[in-house]
Amino acid sequence: MSADNKREHFGSRLAVILAMAGSAIGLGNIWRFPYMVGEHGGAAFIIVYAVATLLISLPVFIAEVVIGRRSHTNARDAFARLSHQHPFWRRVGYLSIVIPLLIVSYYSVIGGWSVEYFFKACGFSFTKMAPDAASSVFGGFVSSTWAPVLTHLLFLAASLGVVAGGVRAGIEKFSKLTLPLLFVLIVAIMVYSVTLPGEGAGVRYLLHPDWSELTPRTFAYAMGQSFFSLSLGMGAIITYGSYVSDHENILFTSAGTAVSDLLFAILAGFAVMPAVFAAGIEPSAGPGLIFQSVPFVFSKMGADVPVLSALMAIFFFVAIIVAAMTSCISLGEVLVSFLMERFGLTRVRSCLAIFLFCGALGVLCSLSFGPLSGVKVAGMTLFDIFDWLCSNVLLLVMALLAVVFTGFFLSRREVHDEFTSRGRYAFNDRVFPLVWFLIKWVAPVAVVIIFFTNFIL
Ligand code: PHE
Repeated sequence: MSADNKREHFGSRLAVILAMAGSAIGLGNIWRFPYMVGEHGGAAFIIVYAVATLLISLPVFIAEVVIGRRSHTNARDAFARLSHQHPFWRRVGYLSIVIPLLIVSYYSVIGGWSVEYFFKACGFSFTKMAPDAASSVFGGFVSSTWAPVLTHLLFLAASLGVVAGGVRAGIEKFSKLTLPLLFVLIVAIMVYSVTLPGEGAGVRYLLHPDWSELTPRTFAYAMGQSFFSLSLGMGAIITYGSYVSDHENILFTSAGTAVSDLLFAILAGFAVMPAVFAAGIEPSAGPGLIFQSVPFVFSKMGADVPVLSALMAIFFFVAIIVAAMTSCISLGEVLVSFLMERFGLTRVRSCLAIFLFCGALGVLCSLSFGPLSGVKVAGMTLFDIFDWLCSNVLLLVMALLAVVFTGFFLSRREVHDEFTSRGRYAFNDRVFPLVWFLIKWVAPVAVVIIFFTNFIL
């Protein structure tokens, strides 16, 4: 039996969408999207974001799924196989292994923080503490030595534990269980948030359309955010694409993922921002939003209704853990499939190897908030370097390479074949000329623009 025949597949269309949406929906939706909407023109930004997703990110997403499904192998070997061992593309494949290696290491540190905050919420810590203490509690925690290291390792072990279960029994089952739960939780938090007194400012912050904010920079930000949010340029979509069966409709699953990701980002905005404004604080982006602003809100509200507030805090941190875990799992699978198929390791051994390697790198990232905070390269701590290098440089380079590979190194016939599942889907056949044009000409130019905007503006 060839290696391909032994490869697993996702069990159904829903499973594909849930797994891919699990990868896409992550901290980017919760801590960056709402803030960017508010700062860059409210409803106007949401429209630009949706257009950028449709015209640029979705074609790149489709290109990555095509690479994965056509090769039915891991992200490194996919490029080698489809290019018939072309020396340049064989090397490119390694980039799609290095990126997840770095991201898993620092992302699971943040995952660990959410585990700690979940424990805090269960212990009613927020309702008991003074709102103003939120910042110092966070600062004290991340700069300590042992606690964040332990929670990081716990989070990483749990995520890789799911990966160790396999594509069907691990990843698919976990996504089917947790993604619907995630939507229910975020809706519950949203209902709580928009019924708080004083929530109006938050709703206005998100919805007020400010057309004067629509500068070229806004477009570049919207595209960059949409790329990160759809997990592009990380090998994750190539790898999940390789588990999609040959008769599945690629357009449908890709669009389904993009829509769920956008929907979740908007819901997260309405769950978080009205509460932040009701508590009378300035919104922030990044970890500050989740670990300082939101606990402040729970603590302030908790003075009046402690049980409800504590319950919402628990919901909130469960949602964060699940969102971060499903994203981390998708990158874990990139690495596991590579180790299994390239070096013949078993799934469990591959997970162990990744745990040791990323666990150790993550420990250094975690310590860079405390004992190692003085160790800096180009003015950045280890954690910041990993994040900056991945989000602003490597991810865009990888997405560009994937889209150029599909548009210029695969033939139009090959991509058409894959996109229509060998002529199975008539609608896909009709829209193919547009998709092909977007992949070949629009997406590469757009990625180069985002890249330079990040450096120049
Ligand atoms: N799409 C994820 C997000 O929005 C990005 C990501 C994917 C991060 C995979 C880590 C791992 O957060």
